[in-house]
Amino acid sequence: MMKVILVGYMGSGKSSVGKLLASKLAVPFYDLDVIIEENERQSVPELFKNKGEIYFRKIENNVFKLVLQKTESFVLSLGGGTPCYHNNHEMLLQDDVVSFYLKGKAKTLANRLQDEKVKRPLLSATNENDLVDFINKHLFDRSFYYHQVNHVIEIDEKSVEQLVDEIDLKLR
Ligand code: S3P
Repeated sequence: MMKVILVGYMGSGKSSVGKLLASKLAVPFYDLDVIIEENERQSVPELFKNKGEIYFRKIENNVFKLVLQKTESFVLSLGGGTPCYHNNHEMLLQDDVVSFYLKGKAKTLANRLQDEKVKRPLLSATNENDLVDFINKHLFDRSFYYHQVNHVIEIDEKSVEQLVDEIDLKLR
């Protein structure tokens, strides 16, 4: 049994890489944000707005624990902040887990996130010029947690297919 977990900043490709990787490995794909949205019957931005981030982080921790209890192989994409709250980063080190950090430069991430800010409550207040700075600071704060994983995968200038092949090789 193998529980593959993808970690990384917003826009690092956790969901698209996760989906393709899961189909290549022929195992189910789970996206933590999507499970939270289904359980709570609200989108992540709505949850932040209506219930606040502290509530979201609590639910995120609960749902992460529940998914990890599954007794099957799967690929799971976390939210960008998941490893940085509660004891979530410790769960990346569980015996049956293989974890990957999809690591990108702030510039790469900012380019991808520019037009998607409505979906990301933490970025919506940031103006375009400040986005790279904001991401750099955020990456600095989060770096310790992201680096708890088993493997670091650099994403800059790579396609989803390339990233999936790279991860697949590490799993063999
Ligand atoms: C967050 C990232 C989001 C979502 C929430 C908070 C973060 O997930 O969980 O908006 O703290 O970085 P994605 O990385 O899938 O956008």
